[in-house]
Amino acid sequence: MEIVPLDSAEEVGALGADVVETAVRGRPGAVLGLATGSTPLPTYRELIRRHAAGSGPSYDAVRCFTLDEYVGLPAGHPESYRATIARELTDPLGIPAERVQGPSPDPGGLATAGERYEEALVAAGGIDLQILGIGSDGHLAFNEPGSSLASLTRIKTLTEETRRDNARFFGSVDDVPRHVLTQGLGTILRARHLLLLATGAAKAAALAAAVEGPVSASCPASVLQLHPHVTVLCDGAAAAGLARREHYREVYDAKPAWQGL
Ligand code: F6R
Repeated sequence: MEIVPLDSAEEVGALGADVVETAVRGRPGAVLGLATGSTPLPTYRELIRRHAAGSGPSYDAVRCFTLDEYVGLPAGHPESYRATIARELTDPLGIPAERVQGPSPDPGGLATAGERYEEALVAAGGIDLQILGIGSDGHLAFNEPGSSLASLTRIKTLTEETRRDNARFFGSVDDVPRHVLTQGLGTILRARHLLLLATGAAKAAALAAAVEGPVSASCPASVLQLHPHVTVLCDGAAAAGLARREHYREVYDAKPAWQGL
């Protein structure tokens, strides 16, 4: 695991955009896994800025999978992750809706939605780069504490903490759905490269537990320690709880440029 402590959320966004662009330049038909939430927004905005300025790669063959989805929202709800990712990233990059797929919250098919999503991932050849955020309770995607480290995509129930954290998108905690479809931790481990973004003091304890604590279902993001290629980009506030943060920065500063992230 490579942990890169940076000075600000903007720096996380700029380096995050570099990682995404490197994946797309390296494989024009790259399959990207996309998290929603606030943390990836500086990365997404930077990708859009570069695309608009003509300096980004071509997204003509890129395919995307959203990481998770709320269950129970009316179709087309602006806070559904499908609508959010279209608005915040894929529409501005010119990636058409048919090349963006997510777990389907259609009420008639919930029992098989996870299985169908897993099949679609396999048919696409797997995810090349999976962008992730971390919950203040250590959740990864919507795998809340206690989730199986081997789990695949399925329906889950959000904790009160996560519903409170996400109430800012809905106006009231009562409007935040209780259920979600989410990639499992085992699904996440199948992606070839994982990019975890963490910014702000509210993430400091969860990030420290995830990367320096024991691997445990009590901190779902600690499953990242089992993956051979993880890049963690964090700002100073999120890095504050890391015992080895100075060492991580030294390693990054001493890294030969040819190695990349
Ligand atoms: C979003 C997701 C969640 C978020 C996490 C952090 O697709 O799967 O795990 O990444 O809740 O959310 P923010 O970035 O809003 O703090």
